[in-house]
Amino acid sequence: MTESRQVYDDADALARAAALELLREAEKACALRGRFILALSGGSTPRKLYSVLANDARYSSFPWATTHLFFGDERHVSPGDAESNFRMVDESLLRCGRVPMENVHRVHAELPDADQAAADYEVELRSFFPEAQRVGGFPRFDVTLLGMGPDGHTASLFPGTDGLRESTRWVISNYVEKFRTNRITFTFPVLNMSRETWLLVAGADKADMMLEVLGPDRAQVSYPVQRVVPGDGKKRWLLDRAAAAKLPKS
Ligand code: 6PG
Repeated sequence: MTESRQVYDDADALARAAALELLREAEKACALRGRFILALSGGSTPRKLYSVLANDARYSSFPWATTHLFFGDERHVSPGDAESNFRMVDESLLRCGRVPMENVHRVHAELPDADQAAADYEVELRSFFPEAQRVGGFPRFDVTLLGMGPDGHTASLFPGTDGLRESTRWVISNYVEKFRTNRITFTFPVLNMSRETWLLVAGADKADMMLEVLGPDRAQVSYPVQRVVPGDGKKRWLLDRAAAAKLPKS
């Protein structure tokens, strides 16, 4: 694994840079393998990135026809719910009409049984990634976008949750006590098989945790986001100045 860090002036600059990098990765993947397989992050940080891709004329040439979008995690709500990651992606990216909806692989999180929603999503993933396209028995995404919470969670893998221990299933329902709800999420084996894993982190509320997970004492702590270790892939931190404010200048 190679790890890099880039700090941008603010969240808008981060989003613009990430969009440009994503276009490059998409064009490279489509040239090499005929398609680009992208796992989207939820939360608020990536909304700016998705909006740039949807609205900036420079991205009208994005290879959407051969790009497939998956969701690294989803809340256990219907797609129209304000909490839904699909709704956030729909509002910021899909409504622009550039992405063929048959290329959008949504988690059916409206199902009453979160375990069933997770199992169904894994079935969809397994049919999209036939055996020959798996590595170590797991799917390989070209780029996996992730965020990080102030508590060091990523996707819906929160500190102290059972999901942290999952080593065989690709998608699980993970009960998160602090929200008293289930989340549907990729597991670490899937996250860590990605060719590129980008952690998009912005805002002063992330500065303390960024110091924990990237600072000089990072070996003394173990937060979920530190367990994103894409074996032979690249882990990239894309931070804004506010999130990076407490990191040593290196
Ligand atoms: C989610 C995300 C989650 C998110 C972090 C950061 O469903 O909320 O997958 O892991 O990336 O909580 O969220 P913000 O970008 O809103 O700070």
